Amino acid sequence: MSEFHSKIKTVEWIKTGELDGVSRMVDQTLIPYEYKKIDIKTAEQMYNAIKTMIVRGAPAIGISGAHGAALCAIELLKNNSGNFIQELKRGIEYINSSRPTAVNLSWALNEQLKIVDKGGSKEEITQALIENAIRLENEDIEINKKIGDYGAQIVPKGATILTHCNAGALATVGYGTALGVVRSAYAKDNTIQVFADETRPRQQGARITTFELVEDGIPVTLITDGMCSYFMKKGMIDVVVVGADRIAANGDSANKIGTYTVAIAAKYHNIPFYIAAPKSTIDMSIKTGDDIPIELRDEEEVTTINGKKICADGVKVINPSFDVTPNELIKGIITECGIFKPQELNKLFMKS
Ligand code: MRU
Repeated sequence: MSEFHSKIKTVEWIKTGELDGVSRMVDQTLIPYEYKKIDIKTAEQMYNAIKTMIVRGAPAIGISGAHGAALCAIELLKNNSGNFIQELKRGIEYINSSRPTAVNLSWALNEQLKIVDKGGSKEEITQALIENAIRLENEDIEINKKIGDYGAQIVPKGATILTHCNAGALATVGYGTALGVVRSAYAKDNTIQVFADETRPRQQGARITTFELVEDGIPVTLITDGMCSYFMKKGMIDVVVVGADRIAANGDSANKIGTYTVAIAAKYHNIPFYIAAPKSTIDMSIKTGDDIPIELRDEEEVTTINGKKICADGVKVINPSFDVTPNELIKGIITECGIFKPQELNKLFMKS
């Protein structure tokens, strides 16, 4: 397994006492201007951190949710709540409602619900929720390194990899999924490079992906979203690797808005298009991408850049945050268990 990785730890449980702690996270709304960590102390603060995208990226949201469940239990314990289990479940549901598309959030909260349902005293449940959150946090980095090392096998020597949005260390606890593939590939071959789409409207590619890769000394070129087919036609892109927020049972994959356009362009130019994502991003309860809930975000994300209006007053706006790439455009889904064709995801869930 490669040792090359960014030092970034996006979200981390910090113990502050017996049955007490905080979720320490990088405030991603400040990147690249500032790299600052903040402490999240309550379930409500966690809901807001996820909703306002202080923390973002499917696996990072999932782990934050797991931390949020532990924070909720700690609060209820401190307040000596009479209805501990009921209030805790309500808190978990509340955190789950912060963003709808990334299934990792409900996946991680379900892992916490299983702990609650095992029962025990309030103290035992709180302790178990904290321990489980820390376990999930640690596992996330290990999973990403496995994704990275499987994915490195599909990166040709000296390749230019196009990516969209940020599926990096900052979208996970550390290392990243799509950027995990980049990190593992770079450790083997330092002649590879990355082209990063800007990713309007929130510019995660420009702000966050370039920040991470520059930090790690991996060559990266920033392009705007509309430029990808230009560079594909010129033969300057060898492979596309992006992350995912939710993958349906048939392999249709939701990721940041604009990913679908990249996949169509890649197909037209005969360039392999891969998704890199943990098993927890696969939602076998959803048959096709048509049923994936797509988050609609505030109009202001489209009408402004850095707080400055960029269009006429009164213009109509619609701002879907994700789109779905159909399975036929996806060459493979890179997971911690290997690389799968989108149509054969069921193999991942078969009992051996
Ligand atoms: O709105 P965001 O920034 O949370 O969207 C993030 C993405 O779309 C990522 O590509 C996806 O979550 C995969 S992260 C490993």
